[in-house]
Order: sequence, then structure tokens, then C-alpha cells
Amino acid sequence: MTPETTEDTGGEDCRISRKTLLKAALMAGTVPLLAGGGVALARDAGATGRPPAPTPNCDDGDGPTHDQMEGPYFKPNSPLRTSLVTDSTPGVRLTVSGYVFGRACKPIPGVLLDFWQADTNGAYDMSGFAFRGHQFTDRSGAFGLTTIVPGLYPGRTRHIHVKVQAPGSSVLTTQLYFPDEPRNNTDTLFDPALLMNVRDAGSAKQGTFDFVLDIAQTPTDPPTDPPTDPPGSTTWAAGTLYSAGDRVTYGGVAYRCLQAHSAMAGWEPPNVPALWERG
Ligand SMILES: [Fe+2]
Repeated sequence: MTPETTEDTGGEDCRISRKTLLKAALMAGTVPLLAGGGVALARDAGATGRPPAPTPNCDDGDGPTHDQMEGPYFKPNSPLRTSLVTDSTPGVRLTVSGYVFGRACKPIPGVLLDFWQADTNGAYDMSGFAFRGHQFTDRSGAFGLTTIVPGLYPGRTRHIHVKVQAPGSSVLTTQLYFPDEPRNNTDTLFDPALLMNVRDAGSAKQGTFDFVLDIAQTPTDPPTDPPTDPPGSTTWAAGTLYSAGDRVTYGGVAYRCLQAHSAMAGWEPPNVPALWERG
């Protein structure tokens, strides 16, 4: 286990940001928290006793999701997978689910989310890809990760790293935090705006978090009806031999093949513009 020293020295920036104000309000006990301790987004209203909204909604008065430093343990080319565990993986099972929205609170399909985290002992796998994986939001803008609660390591509170990138947009690098962690009070990187809502589910935990990307959207556009597959298209799959002109969908987004190839994991259409174009 190696301390993530460069993350330990990040500290706050000098701006008087919403993050700073929110942290101050949390310390003063003036920010309402959900059961489980997370900062509420509108779609989590169910935790307050009201039924959840039928349509995902990011109208919590917040701006785009805050960014955080990448730290020293990111590795590119993580496997495409939504589960980072097997039946024998040690650790407390955790699911993390939510939506990715743009600024107009419309969910975004086909968003790349690349997660990495420590194992239950607080160690990152730098020789392989344990506890690393990327996925794409589905047609409703939803994602879902199956993993374990990451272990603690010196200098940091409990957290999960993630990069979030909508098609054709810049990368948001950030971290997700757990409520009721003693080290949240001492980790200078901790940002309460990045708290997940976490609840117990038997011996496991269920976390939720919605990302809001700084992407302009037109609120008056007919929203949220998921796109339908173009005629003749199929869902992209590794191992398939594609010919130029073939049409697929991936993460709810339609793509057209530009040159014949045999698809491989890691060559998902959003990753290889030489092979696929949208449309
Ligand atoms: Fe970390």
C-alpha cells in the first residue's frame, strides 16, 4: 500500500466557492442532509418520505459537478465492465448508481464513466486492472457500478475516483465520497458536494450520485424520450466483424462503421473515431 501523497496535499483553492460555502454550512449544521448523510438532489426526494420523481431531475440549485484531482493512481485503458468484483472478492459489496445530466437537467446517453478505486485494504492495483472499469450511460442517462466499499489508506478519507466524459466533450475528473466517515472532517480534498447517498441493503451498501456536466442543453427540446435504434442497427459487441457502413448503437447512441474491423474490448465506438462516427 502506498500513500496517495499527492492527493494529500491538494487543499482548497483560493476562490470563495460554493464548495467552501457548503462545507461551512455543513459544519454549522444548516444544510439538510438525507437519511444516510448525502447532499440531496431532487431525484432523491424519496428518501425524505415523498415518492421519487418519475423522471430524473437534477434541479437541486447546484451547478455542474465539482472536479477533483486525478491523483497518482489512474491508469488508462480500463476494461469495459460495470462490475469490478467476483463472488470471491473480499470486501463489503457496494453498488453506485445514478444519472448524468447536462446543465438543463436533461440526462445524457453514451457518457463514458471510468471508475478506479482502492481495494478493501486501501491498495490500488498498478500492475493490473483490479477495481478499474469503464462503462457508458444507457439511453436514459443512467449508469450502474457494482464494486466494494474501498478501503482507507493514509492521508485520505474513503473515496472512489471517476472520469466522466460526454460524447465530444471534455473530461470531468472527480471523486465520490461516503457519508459518516470520520476522515471527511480532516481530508482537505473532501468536498461535501461530492457525497453519495448511501444506504444499507442487508450486508451490502447502495450508493447513488447524479453527475451534472457543464454542457449546454436546450430545455425546450423534447427531452428524455430515449432514441430508438435506427432501422437495421444492432447493439455493438466485441468480437463482431463489422464492415464499412454497418450501423450499431452503443450506450444508446447510433454509430456508423467507417472501416471494416473485428471489434475488441476497448474499441467501443466512442473510443475509436477512426472506426466509428456518430449518426
Ligand atoms: Fe485515491
